[in-house]
Amino acid sequence: MSGLGQTLQIAPSILSADFGCLGNAVAAVERGGADLIHVDVMDGHFVPNITIGVPVVRSLKRIATVPLDVHLMITDPDRYIDAFAEAGAAMISVHVEVLPHLHRTVHAIKALGVEAGVVLNPSTPIVAIEEIAADVDFVLVMSVNPGFGGQTFIPRSESKVADVRAALDRAGNSAASVEIDGGIDALTVGRVVAAGARILVAGSAIFNTPDPERATRELKAAAARALPVASSPGSPAR
Ligand code: DX5
Ligand code: ZN
Repeated sequence: MSGLGQTLQIAPSILSADFGCLGNAVAAVERGGADLIHVDVMDGHFVPNITIGVPVVRSLKRIATVPLDVHLMITDPDRYIDAFAEAGAAMISVHVEVLPHLHRTVHAIKALGVEAGVVLNPSTPIVAIEEIAADVDFVLVMSVNPGFGGQTFIPRSESKVADVRAALDRAGNSAASVEIDGGIDALTVGRVVAAGARILVAGSAIFNTPDPERATRELKAAAARALPVASSPGSPAR
């Protein structure tokens, strides 16, 4: 789980894996040091794509040894939170763009014993999370427009990560992590870690390679090299 806001975690997104052998894909990235498995749920309404739902999360829960990080890209997450929690999600993130009662939703997720995250699309300003910043377990900054794997990192996301980190700290929530999702690879990972991202989602950079285990290990090593000295592994969190 996200733990303290400075713990570095790699979250391979199975969106880019071969759905015909998800078990092998999960095992490979776990051998490579995956800390979480990122599960992209899309409904064809909030985003143009349709992916996977509750039964797949339930199956993943049986085979994964690390927690499941479920990213809901759906128009009505309130209807499905209970089902995803029951299926085995350890973390659930919801988009602020679809939720007029975000406070209620975040607390509903937490009441199920699941870590609650809120997600900002690239065009959504940080002010949208100011009033909930003290309550969340993590904030997910989208560094592409959600819907598909393999898109190009939007450079402005780097400063947005730093601004979200600052908003969480201002709210007294230094335990919450900043997660980033979209276009994370060997070239971009260092920049976002330096800006304060600590949960790093990567799909194509891991699964569109001949060796996802090795790609996970190398991405995690590249991320660790970018950590500020004060929060390197073994040092106390700031
Ligand atoms: C995009 C999804 C991402 C996606 C990332 O809408 O939320 O999790 O799998 O894929 P890459 O790492 O290829 O950009
Ligand atoms: Zn995602």
